[in-house]
Amino acid sequence: MSEKALLVATGLVRAFGGFRAVDEVDLTVTEGTIHSVIGPNGAGKTTLFRLLTGILRPTSGTLEFDGAQIGGKPPDMVARLGLAQAFQTTNIFPRMSVLESVRAALVSRHHRTRDMFSWFHTRLTGEAMDMIDRVGLTEFADEESQTLSHGDQRALEVALALAVQPRLLLLDEPTAGMSPFESQRMVSLVRALSRDMGLTVILSEHDMDTVFGISDEVTVMHQGKVIADGPAAEVRANDEVMSIYLGSEA
Ligand SMILES: Nc1ncnc2c1ncn2[C@@H]1O[C@H](COP(=O)(O)OP(=O)(O)OP(=O)(O)O)[C@@H](O)[C@H]1O
Ligand SMILES: [Mg+2]
Repeated sequence: MSEKALLVATGLVRAFGGFRAVDEVDLTVTEGTIHSVIGPNGAGKTTLFRLLTGILRPTSGTLEFDGAQIGGKPPDMVARLGLAQAFQTTNIFPRMSVLESVRAALVSRHHRTRDMFSWFHTRLTGEAMDMIDRVGLTEFADEESQTLSHGDQRALEVALALAVQPRLLLLDEPTAGMSPFESQRMVSLVRALSRDMGLTVILSEHDMDTVFGISDEVTVMHQGKVIADGPAAEVRANDEVMSIYLGSEA
């Protein structure tokens, strides 16, 4: 695994009025790792993700992705540079089939809508089927997206996010609302994307077994600030972190 810092946030702040939802956050994400951002409800995880993808502008601080300053840049530009988020920037069209949906996402990447030569069409279908296969939906390729189970719809959303060929994929609560079986499949999918495509993944997740089962690195947020950060095993052994979780469960 390389030790290259793919994403570096320094002193990142996002205020809403006088309230700092993200408060002087420093974050370094190493290329090829699975990096979780955890913390109780309202800790600032989703706000941090919105800053990373350009949906929100930072109030202050800097944000560097692969050497480029991306703080305050619009989401489409950030996505083109290779930082994409599933479940948010992409939408499932309920009446489209799985294959049509992924093909449409690929077309928008290629910026080709007018000259749909047959060779291009064939290539796109092949590429789409590869992606559908990666997320485990091959048998549903011709089904309408709306007929898929919740877990399969989320897998489709991951495929749609992959269409821009990201180097870094953000997943905000990828297992939310899933059965234990579906959650396990999502975890396996994230692992496979990391291993087979070398994708760097940042995810937020409330289930601690999932977090510590999947993550290389963990950043813990509380009230907008980073209170702990490091290899998953070290963070797990951190008493302050555990007391915050036990406190919020009690
Ligand atoms: N657009 C907004 N305007 C005002 N306050 C906001 C806005 N977005 C988020 N907040 C506040 O910022 C804080 C952090 O919210 P955020 O959604 O980032 O937390 P989170 O860690 O993702 O929580 P959860 O685990 O519940 O998803 C919360 O107090 C929230 O109410
Ligand atoms: Mg959130």
